[in-house]
Amino acid sequence: MLLKSNPKKDFISTQEWPEEELQNLINLTEDVKKNPKKYNNSLMGKALCMFFYNPSTRTRNSTEVAAYQLGMHPTFNSIKDSWIGYNSESIKDTAHVLARYYDAIGIRIFPVSVNWIYKEGNRILREFASHARIPIINFEDDLYHPLQALTDIYTIKEKFHTPKNKKIVISWAYHPKPLPLSVPNSILLISTRFGMDVTLTHPKHFELDEEIINMARHNAEESGGSLTISNNIEESYEGADVVYIKSWGSCEFYGDPREEKKLRLPYKESWRIKEKYLEYTQTNSIVMHCLPIRRNIVADDEVIDGPHSIVYDQAENRLYTIKALLYYLLKESK
Ligand code: CP
Repeated sequence: MLLKSNPKKDFISTQEWPEEELQNLINLTEDVKKNPKKYNNSLMGKALCMFFYNPSTRTRNSTEVAAYQLGMHPTFNSIKDSWIGYNSESIKDTAHVLARYYDAIGIRIFPVSVNWIYKEGNRILREFASHARIPIINFEDDLYHPLQALTDIYTIKEKFHTPKNKKIVISWAYHPKPLPLSVPNSILLISTRFGMDVTLTHPKHFELDEEIINMARHNAEESGGSLTISNNIEESYEGADVVYIKSWGSCEFYGDPREEKKLRLPYKESWRIKEKYLEYTQTNSIVMHCLPIRRNIVADDEVIDGPHSIVYDQAENRLYTIKALLYYLLKESK
């Protein structure tokens, strides 16, 4: 029987994928979780290149285990052990060569690895994608973390049957350092895409990029959801079904941690997420965080370990979403 490969498809942002395909991925994730044996060794003989400019626990390990279960060979590459890390080999040459060995490449690149030049990490990923003839998977860049977003919407669907018209509060939280915008951008985009009633809450000066907000507003209009932006944490939590905790840096002093710190310090106490804030939410509300988290600085132990928290279920689901994505991108069509 003649087999032909699927056309190359990159996974750089969920926003660029049609809703129908995202829904297919979510359904596939569910099947992968319920019927793991069905997918065992289904990608036998294929190889996955994992390229990390920065550390990871969940993304690296869930991907390695997923690839192993699918019968693939995953290879971990640290940027410091690659010529690209010495600025001595171009992305073009690296991408062309790796594409001759592998079936897909996953890349993680944080703002710190591009000297906090805004969107440079995302640009590098797209440069890889333009040269590699195989799929590029975003393992988290400086703008997006689509694997996390896919996991998050799948997890919300798993807990509530449907995300539609459930209230999610995406809550800024204090952190001693400015963190990337990738996770808040991504949960904002996917939750508005799937018809959720979204409240984005943060102190003044921690607004997300207007371009992302505009995309989210458009998503909400299309999906029948809504987007509210508030600076009042307690009001924002009122009636929430989902509390999504995440810290992020201010765009006002992007790449200038000394000046940025002056903006965040006043919120050290009031924006540390406490158990009492959850009293405003629905009794069956869930608390999410992508992890890692600095306990008792970003959120109290009582929140992370409390009855609303599903952070370990959320982390577990990372395994099923990457497995589903690899299968979706690399299975051969007949
Ligand atoms: N949530 C997440 O991406 O975790 P890691 O940084 O450990 O991969």
